[in-house]
Amino acid sequence: MQNDKRMKEITCIGVLTSGGDAPGMNACIRAVTRAAISKGWKVKGIYRGYAGLIENEIVDLTTESVSNTIQRGGTILKSARSKEFTTPEGRAKAYENIKAQGIDALVVIGGNGSLAGALTFAKEYDVTCIGLPGTIDNDLYGTDYTIGYDTALNTIVECVDKIRDTATSHNRIFFVEVMGRDAGFLAQNSAIACGAEAAIIPEDHSNIDQLEQFIGHGIRKSKNSSIVLVSESPKVGNGGAQYYADRVVKEYPGYEVRVSILGHLQRGGSPSAYDRILASRLGVASIVALDEGQRNVMVGIQNDKIVYVPFSRAIKMDKPIDKELINVLGVLSI
Ligand code: F6P
Repeated sequence: MQNDKRMKEITCIGVLTSGGDAPGMNACIRAVTRAAISKGWKVKGIYRGYAGLIENEIVDLTTESVSNTIQRGGTILKSARSKEFTTPEGRAKAYENIKAQGIDALVVIGGNGSLAGALTFAKEYDVTCIGLPGTIDNDLYGTDYTIGYDTALNTIVECVDKIRDTATSHNRIFFVEVMGRDAGFLAQNSAIACGAEAAIIPEDHSNIDQLEQFIGHGIRKSKNSSIVLVSESPKVGNGGAQYYADRVVKEYPGYEVRVSILGHLQRGGSPSAYDRILASRLGVASIVALDEGQRNVMVGIQNDKIVYVPFSRAIKMDKPIDKELINVLGVLSI
């Protein structure tokens, strides 16, 4: 369906944010809104993602509606994970509202689940959808970065720097659990940025026990405190950071261990300059894409250039972590 000539001239678009919120979503809504208005199109803001589309929680957006939002975290349109949209009945209601509101195309800002929803919707109904990668997880294939990832990474670094102070004072090992769902980008890169001793991530398929490796290398001899970043993914040992802390207590008595789960603070805060710029570029590019007749693609960034990635690739393909990053941490944590 990608690259089809659009059948109908676009005069009105809908924009929504869906799934976990991410810093920079507001900058993106602002860019989509203003770029569309500058083409002479109408813009409808849909509240609470697909849930609001089903419930017809839709308002007109003007250039003023998005004033003073670029620096704000969260999403002014609010977000939700809609169970109802996963059902044919839910999507039918959503389609009725799209027709009633005169929306010709939908811009969906969200992560994997949100783009998967857009793909299903676009297959069932003749709705033009454009996806924009908005998630702190950075787990969408086909884009080097997702909106919110850079801010979350910086938030983690700020927190871990503080944890390092207390870890050093007490000679403790800290297992710090970070978000990312099944992707280790946040864990791996924050570990490098914080000078951590190790990162335990789901992408490491070496079959080597990552804890043994860390104990064997990192903390041995000279080091009396350590920071280990642990991805929240159940694939790294069900129970995340706590699982590894419990194992150390049992298998390597003598070390003093603490766990810190950073949780949702990673999702909040004012977006970094990088995320604001990325969100602005992708937002404008989504309108260019629609104007070119693109449909069912995610707009992403590769080597600092805008790219279009078919939904099916963005959501189904695994985005690998560069082995070089794993090597850098290994070399520097001796
Ligand atoms: O996808 C973003 C994310 O923050 C993940 O990193 C995390 O696993 C999940 O959302 C948490 O979701 P919720 O806010 O619904 O608990």
